[in-house]
Amino acid sequence: MNRNKEEKETTVTTTVFGSEEMLHSAPVDSIPQHPTTPEIAYRMVKDETYAQTQPRLNLATFVTTYMDEYATKLMNDAIAINYIDETEYPRVAVMCAKCLNIVANLWNTPEKGKWKTGAIGIGSSEACMLGGVAAWQRWKQRRIEQGKPHDKPNFVISSAYQVVWEKFAQLWQIEMRTVPLSKDKLTLCPEDAIALCDENTICVVPIMGVTWTGLNDDVEALDAALDEYNNRTGHEIPIHIDAASGGFILPFLEPQKRWDFRLKWVLSISTSGHKYGLVYPGLGWVVWRDKKYLPGTMSFSVNYLGAEIAQVGLNFSRPAAQILGQYYQFIRLGFEGYKAIQHNSMEVAKYLHSQIGKMHPFKNYSTEVHNPLFIWEIKQEYAKQCKWTLYDLQDKLKQNGWMVPAYTMPANIEDTIVMRIVVRQGFSRDMADQLLTDIQSAVAELEKLQYPTPSRIAIESKIKVKGSVFTHTGKGK
Ligand SMILES: Cc1ncc(COP(=O)(O)O)c(C=O)c1O
Repeated sequence: MNRNKEEKETTVTTTVFGSEEMLHSAPVDSIPQHPTTPEIAYRMVKDETYAQTQPRLNLATFVTTYMDEYATKLMNDAIAINYIDETEYPRVAVMCAKCLNIVANLWNTPEKGKWKTGAIGIGSSEACMLGGVAAWQRWKQRRIEQGKPHDKPNFVISSAYQVVWEKFAQLWQIEMRTVPLSKDKLTLCPEDAIALCDENTICVVPIMGVTWTGLNDDVEALDAALDEYNNRTGHEIPIHIDAASGGFILPFLEPQKRWDFRLKWVLSISTSGHKYGLVYPGLGWVVWRDKKYLPGTMSFSVNYLGAEIAQVGLNFSRPAAQILGQYYQFIRLGFEGYKAIQHNSMEVAKYLHSQIGKMHPFKNYSTEVHNPLFIWEIKQEYAKQCKWTLYDLQDKLKQNGWMVPAYTMPANIEDTIVMRIVVRQGFSRDMADQLLTDIQSAVAELEKLQYPTPSRIAIESKIKVKGSVFTHTGKGK
């Protein structure tokens, strides 16, 4: 795009594909010397962002890929609004507080005030960080008051944590103590979690909608175990729930289940508005049980909402469009609308789970489906004689446009290769049938192989060397 003298100038009559720009690579290192027409710039950027797969055939992501046209229009209209400019757009801040109220009430907050205590995030990652930092600050303050050292904080989580918790540990230098999963313990074992707790534990983090498996940790059992432990030791170890996916599933599909603020030690919960909250990315929410659990050091007070409202966040500027999108979805869908959508996603996920579980090479990781996602593996007896792996199936499905990821499980069960399907709004039973047909055809083709595939050879040689398959790649995250 840095034209030589002899190269032709771009003028208003230049056509996009008749332009000099189309003969050069797009800029990589330096800003182009000259401007170009919007049509050419648009084409260059657009062509570089062609989706590699159809977003709705991407069964790897949890993030919303469909909103109706009114939601899309509202969000597009708000594209220039910076949430932090509250003096210009005070109603957006109120709308954000209303969304927080709605989310907090879905999670049965006991907080009585008009405005519930919480914060918006760019996703669950920011929301988890805020929940974690608050737990750390509360612990630190208590230790200072007790005249005790406060330089070795830790938190406890299952080894199936999402990568945000590794970031939290690294960035704030808080030791992460992980409870390994095993073939018998598919979710966080409360007793094992308690065994890792001590006076320096800032919180335990159960996950609702575990990224790797789709299962839920048993928060009710953990809460009971922590209650007994805290009473016995005098510690006050609380729970932060990472409900990135489950936070918008459980209130609608299992409202009786006690996993949220109905439990004594649950002091904060985070979720992704852009997952089952049904909003385009990026949007996250974190709610505290009460204002007193949000340390003053993290909160900046605003008073123009008719009350003192605590404002909290890692970022200063952030897009406001997602707030409009979330509030629209709450009004448009209501409780029953959300319930119907989550129900359908769940039914399609259960259908796929049962059909895949019946296919002769496969075995589901768990018998039940608690969120609209699940994983499966190749049966051991079948794996002994077959010439392919789930990575080969992933490649085959990709040829038909599907993105269905295969990955190794976390520490302690890292030899297990699984495949995951996340069902979201926009994925129908009919599409599920198409996928099943494609899986069956892919398996039939793979079964015709005479020689093992490279991934199969790689696994065999690893097994021979040390009984392990691939290293933990983080793909499951
Ligand atoms: C359990 C869990 N926590 C946190 C996250 C991070 O979420 P986000 O992508 O919204 O930052 C995810 C994402 O998949 C998740 O599954």
